[in-house]
Amino acid sequence: MCGIVGYIGAKQAAPILLDGLDKLEYRGYDSAGMAVYDGKKIQFAKARGRLKILRELTHDGAKLPGCLGIGHTRWATHGVPSNTNAHPHFNEAETIAVVHNGIIENYARLKKMLVGKGYRFVSETDTEVVAHLLDYYYEGDPMDAICKAMQRMEGSYALGIIFMDHPGRLYAVRKDSPLIAGKAEDGCLIASDVPAILKYTRDVYFLQNEEIVCMEAGQINFFNIDKDPIEKTATTIEWDVSAAEKAGYEHFMLKEIYEQPKAVLDTLNPRIRNGKIEIEELGMTDEEIRAIHKIYMVACGSAYHTAVTAKYVFEGLARIPVETDLASEFRYRDPILDEGTLLIVVSQSGETADTLAALREAKQRGVRVLGIVNVVGSSIAREADNVMYTWAGPEIAVATTKAYSTQLVAEYLLAMKFAEARGTVTQQEIDDMLLDLRRLPQQIELLLDHKEKLQRFANRYVAARDVFFIGRGIDYAISLEGSLKLKEISYIHSEAYAAGELKHGTISLIEEGTLVAAVVTQKDLYKKTISNMVEVKTRGAFLLAVTNEGNTEVEKAADYVVYIPETNKYFTNSLAVIPLQIFSYYVALGKGCDVDKPRNLAKSVTVE
Ligand code: G6P
Repeated sequence: MCGIVGYIGAKQAAPILLDGLDKLEYRGYDSAGMAVYDGKKIQFAKARGRLKILRELTHDGAKLPGCLGIGHTRWATHGVPSNTNAHPHFNEAETIAVVHNGIIENYARLKKMLVGKGYRFVSETDTEVVAHLLDYYYEGDPMDAICKAMQRMEGSYALGIIFMDHPGRLYAVRKDSPLIAGKAEDGCLIASDVPAILKYTRDVYFLQNEEIVCMEAGQINFFNIDKDPIEKTATTIEWDVSAAEKAGYEHFMLKEIYEQPKAVLDTLNPRIRNGKIEIEELGMTDEEIRAIHKIYMVACGSAYHTAVTAKYVFEGLARIPVETDLASEFRYRDPILDEGTLLIVVSQSGETADTLAALREAKQRGVRVLGIVNVVGSSIAREADNVMYTWAGPEIAVATTKAYSTQLVAEYLLAMKFAEARGTVTQQEIDDMLLDLRRLPQQIELLLDHKEKLQRFANRYVAARDVFFIGRGIDYAISLEGSLKLKEISYIHSEAYAAGELKHGTISLIEEGTLVAAVVTQKDLYKKTISNMVEVKTRGAFLLAVTNEGNTEVEKAADYVVYIPETNKYFTNSLAVIPLQIFSYYVALGKGCDVDKPRNLAKSVTVE
């Protein structure tokens, strides 16, 4: 979603803004813009399309002199992607400039009020309302205007604001959209996310809801909505700038696919000590675990797909009922949340609006919330009762790979912990599973070694129109992710189907040559899925199978087989997903798609 950067200091702002926006490109956007105070007035440049157009327009920022500026990449919500709708937005006199991430939900009402008072609007955006509203309340004190505007605005916003009358200050504020601030050697910065400012500082302040930051004379001051100063401590970011760069790989997605062995290891290692599962951050005694009689797992996108897998693992190992829900559904369906319910929310970014809302709904109703989160200090991490971090490091490609893999192993560990506490598994079973878990990174590496074969196979499918993914049980959960990966980056229509459900619809779509990818890793379901494969094969489908080493039976039905190494039946997703990721990557590459930044998609979906 939209990205915000702001700078005030001794250096020229525009190149720093462009550099920061570069690092936020991964969030997804369709236009970009900057506003810089040049000593006399606020100058700006905006362009629909890629950041390189804005770079060309401003000669890499050289055409916008000045040391105070705000920049923005826009992911359109209100109003089509266009130069006019691109941020920054201004009051009529162009003395107040605003960049915004989020949605002002009551913008129509506010706009009506402002139009009634003679304000003229030039764009179709909700953000322009903010600029005029600030103008309406502005009587010389920016802080006063900001606080009054905040009282009127509903919805979500992270804002970067410049007032021409106060050229020595950069203001920013957040509510339900992420925003960070940092102090560098020769200036202060704001941004939507850490990579944008990491080159300049490692010490980052995470703004909380309804907090305001004012940067002036090299100082960062924080205030609440009542204009009272507040103290905040900086978090030191441990990872390096290079972690957010491509390191010689053609795409972030490929780099992140290759980082999976390490990411999985980093997530497992701190939680397996002396042959035991230790999840201190769970903050629950065995007794408290035993008191839980139901788990909800709620998430969006790929994170939701890991939850679908986790349901099978939790129920199988710990014999505890698990309900999985898409966060956008959960939040509005009045779920039954009674004592003894645990809500687990899963999120890479920790900022997904629906997942955050689900968390808040549960907390408000007195239910304990555990977050499985990748981004340290993110909103979900801060608001959940307990946080189990996945240690994937920064994930830049929109299509998740390494965060997905780390979510899975975090969930396996949790399920095992619950099983242990509930006495539903033997020590021997736990020991065997721990052995299998420890083998996963190496086994993933092994699968990555075979990428060329998959690339050749993928090249045959760049012109495919429809692809179907089928499986049963955990294999169905894997299919969901395989299908999403393919469609999100290659734009090929694909669907995941529970193999047993094929006959109730999808089979009518099978034509001569349609690619069907069957995931067959659950031994007790081999025969069932193979029958479904035969059914589609006799109707002309071309069958790709992903199965366990040794399951040669599958060759009866499959035209092309990828074997994964032997592991515990609950962990097969971690291996089977690898060839599916690689397949999607190469299909998208073969089609010439923008693999890291697929059209219309955003990395972090911070609006509903
Ligand atoms: C977006 C991303 C997906 C991700 C989903 C949930 O759609 O493109 O890759 O799975 O959001 O994001 P989260 O940050 O909550 O895991």
